[in-house]
Amino acid sequence: MGTIQFKALTFNYSDQTQPLFDHVTLQFDASWKLGLIGRNGRGKTTLLKLLQHQLPFDGQLVTNLDFQYFPQTVTEPTQLTRDILMQLGNLDNSTFWQVERELRLLQVAPEIVWQPFASLSPGEQTKMLLALLFIDDYHFQLIDEPTNHLDQEGRQVVANYLRQKAGFIVVSHDRHFLNQVIDHVLAINRADITVHQGNYQTWQTAHDQQAAYDQQLKGNIKRLTKTAQQKAQWSHEAEKGKNAASVKTESANLDKGFISHRAAKVMKRATTIANRAEEAIEAKQQLFKNVEIAAPLTINQRPLKPGQNVLSVDELVLQQDGVILNQPLSLTLEAGQQVALTGINGAGKSTLIKALLALPATDHITSSSLHP
Ligand SMILES: Nc1ncnc2c1ncn2[C@@H]1O[C@H](COP(=O)(O)OP(=O)(O)OP(=O)(O)O)[C@@H](O)[C@H]1O
Ligand SMILES: [Mg+2]
Repeated sequence: MGTIQFKALTFNYSDQTQPLFDHVTLQFDASWKLGLIGRNGRGKTTLLKLLQHQLPFDGQLVTNLDFQYFPQTVTEPTQLTRDILMQLGNLDNSTFWQVERELRLLQVAPEIVWQPFASLSPGEQTKMLLALLFIDDYHFQLIDEPTNHLDQEGRQVVANYLRQKAGFIVVSHDRHFLNQVIDHVLAINRADITVHQGNYQTWQTAHDQQAAYDQQLKGNIKRLTKTAQQKAQWSHEAEKGKNAASVKTESANLDKGFISHRAAKVMKRATTIANRAEEAIEAKQQLFKNVEIAAPLTINQRPLKPGQNVLSVDELVLQQDGVILNQPLSLTLEAGQQVALTGINGAGKSTLIKALLALPATDHITSSSLHP
């Protein structure tokens, strides 16, 4: 299929003082299944835009491939899904079967293409747009966070689907998903972009080893810094001793040459050691610049009184446009408890959270009916 190569890629948005990418060199094969990983804001989406020449950059992109990007922009979501897919995929009635074939692989009933796009669930919309990518083999796919709106089952279906395809970069923060799908990792680090063979787990293992090594390195730097400070102190004291000797008595002056010579030797040695230590520290600190360190997550919580509940709802029923959305729900959330809210797409998880957020902040809430 060919290769994709960036040579000395340098890019920053106009309001950024530091380049997002600084002389990055990168090469990968167009038949690979790449997982693009990196912390939020590291530049994953930007890199996909650069590949499509949507943003001007310094350096060179060498490839003869055509790229397709997910999620495609749907400008008029009130239109029939089928019409939207035809426009986006440049298809007609005689070629639309290619989309239907992909939809079956994605376990979506092809009939729903007759519904307006806006009426589909976010998970269904995701699958519709994904189905368009692989209707032909000519493009290299840039798939930006396909798992965002998918429930657990949907993610599994898409993972199985992508595993059978090749020639794509997928961005996802879901490591389980990536482990099933990719055969290479493209990692945006603090100072460069690296390519690794294997899945997310392979990369994670290598990364953990690097982190352990860095920990060791930190200890070394600390020790070297202490040594450098000690040597600098010795050097300073030797210099002081030399000056003191030069103003002593005449008899002492007889020894001046000797003391001065000795002091100079000690000082020279101490200075050399201090310089060496500083060089070693500098070299080791350079190594650190490229290592991702996650800042600890802190949550500022209002302390609760003993026995006080975070949340208590009694017989909560949500209504929307007069339609009752759930069975009466009663729950108590105590301080320190961690609760997972699970449910299939469309079950009402976000609606419940929004309703809970809209509740007045009192110590104990009893409500029989809430309107989200
Ligand atoms: N149009 C823009 N104008 C100015 N700055 C931008 C623009 N788009 C993105 N950025 C900045 O560039 C950096 C990289 O953004 P980008 O969206 O590529 O990151 P990302 O890795 O895709 O993040 P995420 O994981 O949150 O999707 C961020 O600091 C972001 O704020
Ligand atoms: Mg992004």
